[in-house]
Amino acid sequence: TDVHENEQLSVGRVLPVVVLDDARHADALGDALVKGGLAAVEVTLRTPAGLAAIAKLAARGDLTVGAGTVLDAAQAGRAVAAGARFVVTPGFAPAVVDACRTAGVPVVPGAATATEIQMALDAGLDTVKFFPARQLGGVEMIKALAAPFRGVRFIPTGGITPDVIADYLAVPAVLAVGASWIVAAELIADEDWDEITARTRQALASAGGAA
Ligand code: 3PG
Repeated sequence: TDVHENEQLSVGRVLPVVVLDDARHADALGDALVKGGLAAVEVTLRTPAGLAAIAKLAARGDLTVGAGTVLDAAQAGRAVAAGARFVVTPGFAPAVVDACRTAGVPVVPGAATATEIQMALDAGLDTVKFFPARQLGGVEMIKALAAPFRGVRFIPTGGITPDVIADYLAVPAVLAVGASWIVAAELIADEDWDEITARTRQALASAGGAA
């Protein structure tokens, strides 16, 4: 079921959000994340290299790879064909939700308001990406939204720095947090895989402190 697979994507309760400019970096990046202890990663389709990177990372077999920034149904289909096992969208897009259902992969739509959460619920989904989390009001906003929506799980993303990971994960409705600093663009450009492993460990340590 969706719930089971959503648990898979949140192993470790930290989901790194990756923007890759060159798919040739995918193997080393995958090694760095696995070495740091992560089992899931979101690769965005913000760059043309995203799709090839998803294929390379999915082929490893030791990472659950999702596609992020999926904006239309065609992109969702291509991502799943490349090996994506879940799909994340910045907002709520019914066509993408339908495409993911057809493809048989879980989809986590972005939601920033009560109305958008109700749209997700109407579509049969119970997990949303709360985006952009910090700018929307952070932990307090999630607590307020979680009050009426008891079954909804949130994956806050946007401005989640290491110092606040534990605060977010302490909220029962929060399934996992998403963050890009673990795999910051400059680290990939510099091929600083050791620092990516170090940041992975730092993020997981912060998450473990919340458990
Ligand atoms: C995303 O698309 O999920 C965000 O770009 C990640 O937010 P962050 O860069 O603030 O971590």
